[in-house]
Amino acid sequence: MMLVRLNMRVALAALCAAVMLLMLYWSRCGDLAKRPVGSALSNAISERAPSEDIECSINGEYSVACRRDAAEVYVPFSFIRKYFEIYGKITSTDGVEKFEWSHSYSKVYHPKKKYDPRGTFTTFENYNVEVRDRVKCISGIEGVPVSTQWEPRGFFYPTQIAQFGLAHYSKNITEPEPRVRILDDGQKYMGNWTVSKDATMTREYDAEMKANVIRFSTSDQASSQVALKVNISQDFVLSLDVLFKPNSSLTVVLQHKDKKETVYLHYVTSTQLIYAQDDHIYYGIGVEQKWRRLTRDLIIDMQKGWALLDQPKRKSPRNKFRISSLSLSGAGAACGVRVSSSEHMAHFFAAARWLVRRQRARGGWPVPARRRVAPQVPDLAPGWHSAMSQGHGVSLLARAYQRSGDAAYLRAARRALALLAVPPAQGGVRATWMDRYVWYEEYPTKPPLFVLNGFIYALLGLYDLHVIEGENASSPAKKMFDDGMTSLKTLLPLFDTGSGSFYDLRHFTLGVSPNIARWDYHATHVNQLYLLAGLDPDPVLINTAKRWEGYMQGKRAAHN
Ligand SMILES: *[C@@H]1O[C@H](CO)[C@@H](O)[C@H](O)[C@H]1NC(C)=O
Ligand SMILES: *[C@@H]1O[C@H](CO)[C@@H](O)[C@H](O)[C@H]1NC(C)=O
Ligand SMILES: *[C@@H]1O[C@H](CO)[C@@H](O)[C@H](O)[C@H]1NC(C)=O
Ligand SMILES: *[C@@H]1O[C@H](CO)[C@@H](O)[C@H](O)[C@H]1NC(C)=O
Ligand SMILES: *[C@@H]1O[C@H](CO)[C@@H](O)[C@H](O)[C@H]1NC(C)=O
Repeated sequence: MMLVRLNMRVALAALCAAVMLLMLYWSRCGDLAKRPVGSALSNAISERAPSEDIECSINGEYSVACRRDAAEVYVPFSFIRKYFEIYGKITSTDGVEKFEWSHSYSKVYHPKKKYDPRGTFTTFENYNVEVRDRVKCISGIEGVPVSTQWEPRGFFYPTQIAQFGLAHYSKNITEPEPRVRILDDGQKYMGNWTVSKDATMTREYDAEMKANVIRFSTSDQASSQVALKVNISQDFVLSLDVLFKPNSSLTVVLQHKDKKETVYLHYVTSTQLIYAQDDHIYYGIGVEQKWRRLTRDLIIDMQKGWALLDQPKRKSPRNKFRISSLSLSGAGAACGVRVSSSEHMAHFFAAARWLVRRQRARGGWPVPARRRVAPQVPDLAPGWHSAMSQGHGVSLLARAYQRSGDAAYLRAARRALALLAVPPAQGGVRATWMDRYVWYEEYPTKPPLFVLNGFIYALLGLYDLHVIEGENASSPAKKMFDDGMTSLKTLLPLFDTGSGSFYDLRHFTLGVSPNIARWDYHATHVNQLYLLAGLDPDPVLINTAKRWEGYMQGKRAAHN
């Protein structure tokens, strides 16, 4: 038995190694004549007898067309790729081509220093939540993403909202200072607004804003407006304070630099999320008549409109468009108009405020969409809670408190812990492994699944809060974190496949075939473990992280 298996391995390894040669050979056959034969490799190829076709029988089940010459069999990489789920591409440096083979498509980030809850959230500075296809758009009222992940109409998904906020928080720390262009602050910089004949515009001191603001009023005519011509490229995050009477709007005109293409973004007094027609994209910003600050990434807003219109995705519109004007119509007031390269903290605090505003009495952020987790367990009915949402929410709120000093964020973070102590049957997220080890469930199914990455994110929330609130004997965060770490260190070996990791433990709790983590989840596991290994010296963490990282380069656990 053993010998046969070993021989098989050797044979497979040889085949795999042969593939690269084959790729090169095939790609050169056609132009061998015109290409100077320089390298030893080409020499070897050109001296060899021409290869012949040979049938490769795969496990006696089906066949693949292969090639052979005297010494070697060459199997097409397209087959190898599917068979072993590995990746390869031809790259070129200084005109020299190379075939790059990689075992996984994901990357591991090695933390440079110990994780600090006041710093970036894990590696989230690399996340761009709003560009994801499953984000329908950024709500004009709430300033946070609306998800279509499990519900095409769109809903507020607390995990996604927290990730949006944590990504912007992390980018605020890692990115260079933004470029800021003030268009009108009512004081030092005054825009040269054009006022059409049937419109009015005045500048007045506003006691609430403590600033000189623009008051405007236009007629019902579409041409009646108060407009500011600009010519801004490169930077696309617009922010301003507005107070709109009903039926008022702000329109931003974006023009393509080369083509005759104009896109109109309308921010209108409406509760509708988004709609679009031809070149006009509309975002509802609510109907309340009070001051509010709008912060909009115009490029994201344009792309989400295109997605709604089923227009094909375009590459880097940021380089292709310029802002050519802003205009106000209806009646109301505006001030503090600026365009920046980024407004990370505004997006972060939009998420923080959403979490405070939408938190329910039990401290939860219920998910309003039905979720099918595994066919063998009942769906999670709308209103379910996730330990990952709760944990991310706590991580975000702890940072919001730390940055702003506003205790409302700290109170909300503390309230969010309560559901981690409540079992799923009572609407919470706490599962127990073999009646002994607590597990904070990303998906609180019955029976539980023990999803690994969501559990670790919940632990990070607990750690973040514990550090930011300081020593506090009556806060449960520390004990909940310690209990969770005990579970993690005990159960971690169960997630090891010997060549990768399991996403969850459904093969144990449901008795079904195991759910292997695809590479990006596996990489998430590894990143999370490296982070935790910096907080807890138990060798199981660092050893597992290193072994699992090795799996991404094709290393495997030894066999007998
Ligand atoms: C980060 O936030 C601070 C405080 O709001 C701000 O002054 C700074 O410009 C921001 N930097 C970036 C890169 O967003
Ligand atoms: C303001 O704009 C108008 C028309 O666009 C122009 O005639 C005028 O010179 C501008 N004023 C200033 C101060 O730039
Ligand atoms: C806008 O500015 C760019 C340079 O940044 C210039 O090339 C272009 O002609 C300007 N367009 C208009 C309409 O003023
Ligand atoms: C807003 O506009 C609609 C249609 O244009 C009109 O029916 C409605 O009366 C307007 N509301 C206000 C408060 O002006
Ligand atoms: C300690 O934590 C408890 C529970 O979360 C909280 O009620 C209390 O205000 C905290 N004490 C301090 C000094 O922050």
